[in-house]
Formats: sequence, structure tokens, C-alpha cells
Amino acid sequence: MHLRRLVVISNRVALPDAAGKAAAGGLAVALHEAFQAYQGLWFGWSGKVSAHPAAHPKIIDKGQVQYAVMDLTSLDRQEYYNGFANRALWPIMHYRIGLSEFSRADYAGYLRVNRSFASALAHLIQPDDLVWVHDYHLIPLASELRAVGIINPIGYFHHIPWPAPEVFGALPGSTELLRVIPDYDLVGVQTERDADNLRRSLVQELGAIHRRADLLDVGSRRVRIKSAPIGIDVNGLQQAAQRSGSGRLLKQTIAGLGSRQLIIGVDRLDYSKGIPERMEAFERFLVSHPEQRGRVTYLQIAPTSRSEVPEYATLSRVVNETLGRINGSLGEPGWVPIHYVTSTYSRAILAGLYRLARVGLVTPMRDGMNLVAKEYVAAQDPQDPGVLILSKFAGAAEELTDALIVNPNDKVEVAEAIQHALHMSQEDRVARWQAMLKVLWDSDVTRWAAAFIKDLAANKASRVRRSTGLKKESNDR
Ligand code: G6P
Repeated sequence: MHLRRLVVISNRVALPDAAGKAAAGGLAVALHEAFQAYQGLWFGWSGKVSAHPAAHPKIIDKGQVQYAVMDLTSLDRQEYYNGFANRALWPIMHYRIGLSEFSRADYAGYLRVNRSFASALAHLIQPDDLVWVHDYHLIPLASELRAVGIINPIGYFHHIPWPAPEVFGALPGSTELLRVIPDYDLVGVQTERDADNLRRSLVQELGAIHRRADLLDVGSRRVRIKSAPIGIDVNGLQQAAQRSGSGRLLKQTIAGLGSRQLIIGVDRLDYSKGIPERMEAFERFLVSHPEQRGRVTYLQIAPTSRSEVPEYATLSRVVNETLGRINGSLGEPGWVPIHYVTSTYSRAILAGLYRLARVGLVTPMRDGMNLVAKEYVAAQDPQDPGVLILSKFAGAAEELTDALIVNPNDKVEVAEAIQHALHMSQEDRVARWQAMLKVLWDSDVTRWAAAFIKDLAANKASRVRRSTGLKKESNDR
């Protein structure tokens, strides 16, 4: 079948810069190739708030790809984005039941924004478009699109973890959210564990029946749930890392380090990333191995994130206190153990810093995938690569089994992994790195998007059923 367009919908839309250069965020990079192969429409929130948002999106035409963005009211932003998506769903999806704050008003706002996106999209989606929805802000979107008569194939990719049924079930309204899942034809998640969790929830809560390991019937609807781990642009990262040495910031960092080894962590400032816990593990390392004091520097880059959500403000305070305590108690006049910066750096600069670092410390308490782990590996010097220390709770741990895998809750284990990494022989480092690089190439991001689109387009049977059974399905809902 001839496919005219790929319609991508995500909360944030990565607009190209004024010169037309594509944005460097994970999803923008992932979609870049797909938007070369198909005409594209990318729809989402403009990131702006206005008192009276227009009912129709603003269209920005960039040739092959059109961008369609809508403003939200400040109540929408509060209830849909800060409230339900980031205060209720995000912690539940990251197994933090105790941090999840549910409110019925927020949930209503979440549904309202999804409905208004669907009604704007109803005017934009054409009969042979493929529709691909991204992430937890928009779980009910397929259901809202079906309600306005869209029968196109609709896929969903969940970028963050999908928790075990017992955890997901703790969220009020969780069964309602599960009910909308089979309005998608194809649902992609990052790991086998996530896929298993979601399928088990559908079976336990809605009586879904397995047609195949990855195919479930839920009443009259059929959905495929598969693990599709997202990759990175390996070649782009490698080139950026090779070129980086000449940059000013890199030169300054190299001069500042002198003969010290660099340990690096790069994360959004989010409690799921385990930043205070990581700092304490580094403290443990310095206490257990005092000979390493003055010989290593741990650089933590952590751009501020979602600062209107109270749990993020608390985290920022905790990180500052932990950092101050460790640097105060273990630092010396000529040496600061932890350098902490909250600025955002370009991919080129990060690639250079990754290459410079002997250890990449990626120890989230829970993470859908964690692309920093993959980028750190891709950026290494093949002759003298660094060592990746990776949390067993990052999706990337399912693939990067040659990293030093740790439990981030165990500070002694992380501390000893740092010591192991700093003493690892070149031969061992090279062997582990080569094995991980192969994994990265096998799941390169260009293949990821192409494979998902191919699977979605192949969903003919389901599409035929939907077009004939739509009336009945909407009655079922
Ligand atoms: C995670 C989510 C993305 C989100 C990003 C940044 O990676 O999976 O959907 O865009 O965090 O968070 P923000 O709230 O700033 O969009």
C-alpha cells in the first residue's frame, strides 16, 4: 500500500532551528530518517501557555515535514502536564507509589487535553496516514481519535517503564487507562519486562486473551504489544566525539583535570535518576579507598527539570545538600570531589565529555531506556575506552550486559564498581566496549523507527476489523 504520510504526536515537538537544522533530542534524532522516507506531520504542545488558545494548531511548514503545535491554557498545563502526567503517572510508571499524587481534577484535565488534541487532529489526519503517538502524556489519544471517527492504524510508543500490575494498579483510574490500550493497533515498550508487565495487566484487569505471545484480544479489539528498545545515532555520536577535542570547553576541562581520572553522570534533575544516591555511593568509594582522593573528579551534569512540580523542588534541595556535605567533608584546598552543573550542553560537547571520562556512571533507580548509557559507549575511543557502570533498573541493562551492572540501592556495590572500573585492564575494557558497540549498531535508531513503522503498516487485519466494527467498538467503550 502506498503510504503518504507519517503523523507523529508527542507532548513536546522538536522544531528545527531557524536554519532548518533538525533538533538533537532523542525522538527528533530517531524520527529524522523516517521523515526522509515519508512525508511527515508532527503534532503536539507548543510549550506555550495562552489565555485563549486557538482551536486549530499553528502550522509550520518545513518542506518534507509540517509541524502543528497548539498552546495550552495555564490550567491545562497545571492539570494535564504538571498534574496527572508528571505528578501521578510518572512516579507510578517509575515504581514510586509513595510519590504519586492523584487528583480527579488533574485526571479530568489530562483527558480534556487529549480530547482537544484529537479534535484538532481529526481535521488533519488523512485516510492513508500512519499515526504514531508517543509517551505517557497521550495514552488515551487513540481512544479519543477513534471516537471522532479515525480508523487509521495507530501506534503508541511508551518511552518510560511500564511497571508491574501490582504497582500500576495502585493508581486510581488505572483500569480506565488500560481500557484505552487496545484502541492502538501496536504498542511498543522499551524492554521485555515492560511488555510482560503491560500484557499481564491487560489479562488480569480486563480478561485479555493471548492470541500469540505478543498479540492480545481485549473484547472485540486486538492489540500487539512488543518490546522495541530505542537506539541512538551511533555514527553521529562517534563523529561528534571524535571532533570534540578542539572545543574550548573540552580544552578547559582537560586542563582542569590534569592527571585526574574523570567520572561522569548526565541526567535530567529527576528523582528517578538516583542522583543523591549516586553521590553517596561516590562518597562511600572515597571513604573505602582513601588513596583515590585527589585522583578522581566526578562531574555530574543535571539540567533542571519540571521545577513547578513540588517533588522536583525537593530533589533539587536534597542534591544541593548532599553535594555540599560531601564536598565539605572530603574536599581539599586543591581538589573538589564532585563538580555539579545544571546547565544544558549540546550533544557535541557531551560527546566530548563522555569520551574524556574513564567511567560513565548511569545509576537510575528506574529508567525506561537511558540513552546516556548508549551515548557514553558510542563516544569512547576504541583503543582506550572507558567503563560503563549501569543500573540493573535501566532499560539499557537488558541490552548492555557487558557494562558493570549494579543495584543503585546498594551504595557499597556501586562504590566497588567504581573502584573496579578505575582498575580495569585495557584488554578487559576493549573487550566489553566492543561487545556493547555491536549491540548499539544492531539497534541503531534509524532501524528502530523503520521497524516500528513497518510493523504498524502491516496491521492490515486489524485495520479491516476496525473499519467494519467501529460502531460496535465505540458502543463497547
Ligand atoms: C522523558 C520523557 C519525555 C519527556 C522528557 C523530558 O524522557 O519520556 O517524554 O519529554 O522526559 O521531560 P519534559 O517534562 O521536560 O518534557
